[in-house]
Amino acid sequence: MSSAIGDRRIARLRADAYRVLAGNWREGRLADGTRYGFTCPAPPRYRHQWYWDSCFHAIVWRHFAPARAREELRTLLRGGRLDGFIPHTIFWHDGAGWRRAPFYATHSLYGDRATAHIQTPLLALAWEAVAAASPDEPGFGVEALDALRLHYDWLERHRDPDRDGLISIIHPDESGLDDSPKYDAVFGWMSHYRPGYFWLVERSRRLRYDSRAIIARYDEHVEDVLVNVFYALGLRALARLSGNRVYDERAQRTEQALVARCWDEERGLFWDLAGRDHTPLRVSTWSSLAPLALSSLPEPIARRLIVDHVLDPRRYRSPFGIPSVSMEEPSFRAGWHLFRCWRGPAWMNTAWLLVPALRRHGYAAEADRIVASCLTLVERHGFREYYNPLNGEGLAARRFGWSTLLVDLLPSVADRSHEVPEAPFHGNPREELLSMGVEAAAETSRRVGAAARKRLWSSQDGRTGGEPT
Ligand code: GLC
Repeated sequence: MSSAIGDRRIARLRADAYRVLAGNWREGRLADGTRYGFTCPAPPRYRHQWYWDSCFHAIVWRHFAPARAREELRTLLRGGRLDGFIPHTIFWHDGAGWRRAPFYATHSLYGDRATAHIQTPLLALAWEAVAAASPDEPGFGVEALDALRLHYDWLERHRDPDRDGLISIIHPDESGLDDSPKYDAVFGWMSHYRPGYFWLVERSRRLRYDSRAIIARYDEHVEDVLVNVFYALGLRALARLSGNRVYDERAQRTEQALVARCWDEERGLFWDLAGRDHTPLRVSTWSSLAPLALSSLPEPIARRLIVDHVLDPRRYRSPFGIPSVSMEEPSFRAGWHLFRCWRGPAWMNTAWLLVPALRRHGYAAEADRIVASCLTLVERHGFREYYNPLNGEGLAARRFGWSTLLVDLLPSVADRSHEVPEAPFHGNPREELLSMGVEAAAETSRRVGAAARKRLWSSQDGRTGGEPT
C-alpha cells in the first residue's frame, strides 16, 4: 500500500494531521487544581471534549506523541464519576452557559461541567492501543483498570435492564450518529434535528438521567448495533488488558446477541432494536455493517455484508469513502445540511472501522481503493468533518480532529511529522460562518438545479410520453 501511494504523500498527510491535532490541543487547570489536556474536535464550533472523538484522537496521537494520547484518555477518565459513568461531552475550560445548555443533555440549564448522557463506549479499545504505543510508560496499560472496569460495569448495570447482553441508548446522539435516519421512526418529532429534541432532554432531566427509570417509563430507547459493536470491542480490550476472562465472556454474550437478535437473514443486514418490543429499525446505515469489525462474526455473514452491501455501487461502494447511509435508502442525502450530518456523507471513522475488516476477509484491493479515495479527499479539501461520497466535496467543520484517523489506515513511514511547529488553532467564528454560508449556497444551488432539471424532464415527458434519458 505504501508503495502504491508513495511515502512522500503519506509523510505529507501525517504532517498535516499532526498540525491539526496539535493546533486543536487544549490544556490547563480548573480552579480546584484538576488538570486537563485534550484535543477539541474543531474550534470554534466544537471546543469541548467529546468521549468518542477523544478516543479517536488518542488513537492517532499515539503515532506522534504517545504522552499526549495518554493525557487525552486520562483527562476523559477524570471527567467521569466515581461510579463509572463517563459523560458524552465535558466542558473543561468553557462551561455550558444558558445559551448552549438546552442543546446539551446537562442536569441543569447552567453551570454544569459535563453532560449527563453517554457516547459510544470505546475507551478500553483506545486505552489498549495507546498502551501498546507506550514503551516509555509500561505501567499505562494497567494504571486505570479499576476505573475501566467500573465504566463497563456501569454500562451493563444501567443500560442493559433486560439483561439480553445489548446496551441501550436513550438519546439518539448517544451513539454519536445524532440525526441518522435509522432513529426517525423511534424519536420522531424528538429527533436530534427537530425542535422536540429539547423535550427529550428535558424529560430525561426531570428523571435525573436515571437510565433505568427512563427506559422503564418511556419507549424511545434503542439497542444500537454500532454502540454494541464498540461495547463488545471495548470489553475484549478490557479482558486483554486485565487478564480477566469475565470480560471476554461478556463480550461474547453481546456478540452472540447481535447475531441472534439483530441479524436479518433475508436482507443480509443488522438492525437496531427499538423499545421494549425490540422492533427492528430497518434502515440501512453503516451501523448495519459495523459487526464486520468483530472477529467472532461468522464468515458467511461477513461475506454477505461485504459482497451484497459494501461492494455494491448502488449501496455503499461510492467513489469517495464509505457513505453513512446506503445510497439506495430514500433518506440518503450526500450533501450538506445545517442540522443533518449522518444521512449520507462519508465520515473517516466509518472507513477506519470497516477497512481493516475488509482486509481480514481478503478484500485488500477494495480496502486500498477506499483508503486511496480518503487520501484524495483530504489532499483536496483538508481534514473536514465529513465529505460528499459522490463528488468528494469537503463539508462542514474544518481541521476536524478525528478525520486524522486516516493516518491509522496508512502504513507508518519514517517521517518528521512531530517536528512540525505547533500553532494553536482557535478558529475564527466569522470564517467558520462564512464557510458554512458558502456550503449552504452550494447545496441550495445544487438542489435548485436538480429541481429545475426534474421539471424540464417532466415537461418533456408530457410532450413525448418518454422516460428522461
Ligand atoms: C457531532 C457528531 C458527533 C461528534 C460531535 C463532536 O455532533 O455527530 O459524533 O462526537 O459532533 O465532534
